[in-house]
Amino acid sequence: MTDCLGDGAGDMTPMDLYEKLTSQGDTVRTLKTEKAAKADIDAAVQLLLKLKVDYKQVTGQDYKTGCPPSECVVSQDNGPAADGEDMVDPWNVSTTNAKGVDYDKLIVRFGSSKIDQELVDRIERVSGQKAHRFLRRGIFFSHRDMHQVLDAYEKNKSFYLYTGRGPSSDALHMGHLIPFIFTKWLQDTFDIPLVIQLTDDEKYLWKDLSLEDCHRYTMENAKDIIACGFDINKTFIFSDLDYMGASPDFYRNVVKVQKHVTFNQVKGIFGFGDSDCIGKIAFPAIQAAPSFSSSFPQIFKGRKDVQCLIPCAIDQDPYFRMTRDVAPRIGYPKPALLHSTFFPALQGAQTKMSASDANSSIFLTDTPKQIKNKVNKHAFSGGKDTVEEHRKYGGNPDVDVSFMYLTFFLEDDEQLEKIRQDYASGALLTGELKKRLIETLQPMITSHQERRKQVTEETVKQFMTPRPLNYSF
Ligand code: TYM
Repeated sequence: MTDCLGDGAGDMTPMDLYEKLTSQGDTVRTLKTEKAAKADIDAAVQLLLKLKVDYKQVTGQDYKTGCPPSECVVSQDNGPAADGEDMVDPWNVSTTNAKGVDYDKLIVRFGSSKIDQELVDRIERVSGQKAHRFLRRGIFFSHRDMHQVLDAYEKNKSFYLYTGRGPSSDALHMGHLIPFIFTKWLQDTFDIPLVIQLTDDEKYLWKDLSLEDCHRYTMENAKDIIACGFDINKTFIFSDLDYMGASPDFYRNVVKVQKHVTFNQVKGIFGFGDSDCIGKIAFPAIQAAPSFSSSFPQIFKGRKDVQCLIPCAIDQDPYFRMTRDVAPRIGYPKPALLHSTFFPALQGAQTKMSASDANSSIFLTDTPKQIKNKVNKHAFSGGKDTVEEHRKYGGNPDVDVSFMYLTFFLEDDEQLEKIRQDYASGALLTGELKKRLIETLQPMITSHQERRKQVTEETVKQFMTPRPLNYSF
């Protein structure tokens, strides 16, 4: 008999463990019914007991047949990271590991599920499209309830997409593009409505900015988002500062969420303290509300049962753990999620690319020359100190930021694999790898800037007007 703990229970998600336990329970029952040898039954029972201990360790709950692990309990240990753990929340991402955050561990800590090959294959089957490179390469690596979304879609039940941006400056950086590029692919692939929340209220509450600045950044950021190619007939973009006052249904949902989440819960999830302003404490309800279709009566005609799917990087998950916990208690379906890894800072994968450090980021406003200089000067290299050593021992693509960036943006799988092999063998030098990255990024950003120039104030206004979209609900 194989030792099931050989795969390392620490690497398994609560749901994987639950499923393994359920199947081990079935095995024990079958062995007993078939009056198998005592030694076999004993071994199977031992394994069952061991799995129960692991399950309790990972989820904090006792295993109960027919009762999958609940996220509310798991989410209690999702406050600040314990000593030695990677830090991942909406405001901070850091790890001591040069390869970046340990995403498998994060899945266990957050209680989400891994996007495995089976799910990628299923998305391809159901959509009839080749999986996006972000799926093929594990950049979108974790999910909640994606199988449920696909089950319903196969039965002709539509769903909608919800994503967002906190407009804290004029310019987005390349990391911000990741969820939007993927959301566009999902919208094109599944032909579904999309709502995009611009949380100018959040940035006013968190940063030293005026309301006018935040609202202005909203309008500027909207242009970058529109330049990603979203279909105006299928997309509604809104500023919280405008939409909260204009939509009674949206505000009603905000208040419902606020009534069902305690201060203690948000303290536990977000780490708020006594000196945080009350606006911050109430804000998570505002990021939760777009997960419910009744917040957009103009699109969903008052229906409150349309399933929502949220693509985002995993830093936003705390908001949606809270949302999923509260949803059934206010009569709404839980939103499903697709989580991405972080596009790393130029200096290395110990932290994500962040707008607050200009040298760590490549902005969508950077010129070709700035891109070249930033990559050449700041991109952390996995190469050796001298050309001779590099040729002899090879470089390390796992910690090399230029190679990591190429995994996000170079479409061709074979080319990428060849670059990886050549770099690891020493055939490709760091300077050549950087050149390759620069040649990939420069035209990409230039054409983004050209598309953005075409986005007029009038187009922004159209995207941001509450209106029906091209769907009948
Ligand atoms: P914000 O503006 O911090 O980030 C916008 C989106 O970009 C993702 N992101 C990244 N993805 C990959 N690599 C990075 N380095 C990186 N940095 C940021 C974020 O996860 C996010 O998806 N509170 C939110 C705005 C918001 C939102 C939402 C986001 C409101 N509703 C629904 C996602 C889904 C914020 O400040 O995002």
